[in-house]
Amino acid sequence: MFAYHINTRYIKVDQNHPEADAIAGAGLILRRGGLVAFPTETVYGLGADATNARAVARIFEAKGRPPDNPIIVHVASRSQLSALVVGVPTAAKILMDTFWPGPLTIILPAAKGVPEVVTAGLATVAVRMPDHPVALELIKVAGVPVAAPSANLSGKPSPTHAAHVLQDLDGRIEAVLDGGPAGVGVESTVIDLTAEAPVILRPGGITPEELGACLGEVIIDSDVLAGSYDGDSPRSPGMKYTHYAPRAPLLLVTGNGPAVALKIRQLACAEKCVGRRVGILTYSDSSDFSAAGEVVVAGRRERPETVAAGLYSALRRFNELGVDVILAEGLEEKGVGLAVMNRLKKAAGGRIIQV
Ligand code: TXA
Ligand code: MG
Repeated sequence: MFAYHINTRYIKVDQNHPEADAIAGAGLILRRGGLVAFPTETVYGLGADATNARAVARIFEAKGRPPDNPIIVHVASRSQLSALVVGVPTAAKILMDTFWPGPLTIILPAAKGVPEVVTAGLATVAVRMPDHPVALELIKVAGVPVAAPSANLSGKPSPTHAAHVLQDLDGRIEAVLDGGPAGVGVESTVIDLTAEAPVILRPGGITPEELGACLGEVIIDSDVLAGSYDGDSPRSPGMKYTHYAPRAPLLLVTGNGPAVALKIRQLACAEKCVGRRVGILTYSDSSDFSAAGEVVVAGRRERPETVAAGLYSALRRFNELGVDVILAEGLEEKGVGLAVMNRLKKAAGGRIIQV
């Protein structure tokens, strides 16, 4: 059980007028060591003053986050980086020029003053400049860099609406700024620039194709493609935990279209026979599964960015429907489809059927 209850303030903000008083108030909460959830262009973040170790420790408590999983530090201007990183190499400058503000997190050697609780004791720190007027204004009025993981309970699907944040964290944090739905829908891409060649540790809003076009060779970490982790020391500690999981177990079915549809119908049938309620995660341009179970449409298969935008809402929807098992159709791992499949594989926790 969580140890205490805070009255969480719900604050509606207008994206087009981020200079409003409401955000100034939220900035003050951050400066005083409080926790504020806020919209970004990817998912909602749970922010704390990154220079205040006690405030950041409260993030771990509120989310139930394992202590060895480091947190991304969000900045509103590049001048804030000098207190966070040892230096900005040319490759990082190129990426910042091209993709910031935007859904790209860059791992660099950490400066001395960065609290250990932020980096989980690593020698590196993750930094990103979000592309959202409310997030940028909040960081600006707080006057400090803002440490922020996704604003969900650890292991649950990330929040893309303020209502998702409240489902998980009401009573545990000081405030949530509601700036409407997050746009991209999956988290930022995490790229490590501390090794010899750039390595993508987590696929996200910026695709490997876009990064490759900018940097030349970019390596995709093998754990990303496997969607599971089975080594001793992952380069991104977050990779070893179960993530994004709805309450019911999720089974991911991948392969060519007609075979996948057939497999899903067979599996649904078998589950129904033993009295289980079946949920099916599918796409508007895919088969009609309405006779096989409770259908939730995440987006259009042919436009993976629409699936990214709808994915976490869809996963949370299955909790409301109260299904016992979820059968999910795979996507092509192209463009942002790579990030969507990475999240689905993790939500499946190894339950993947290839047909
Ligand atoms: O889009 C996003 O990135 C969102 C919004 C709120 O900005 N944030 C987010 O944070 O997704 P979180 O904590 O849910 O995921 C951060 C990931 C984790 O997998 C973590 O292990 C990794 O980044 N990470 C953070 N610092 C790292 C470091 N120094 N080295 C390697 N991986 C790191
Ligand atoms: Mg997260």
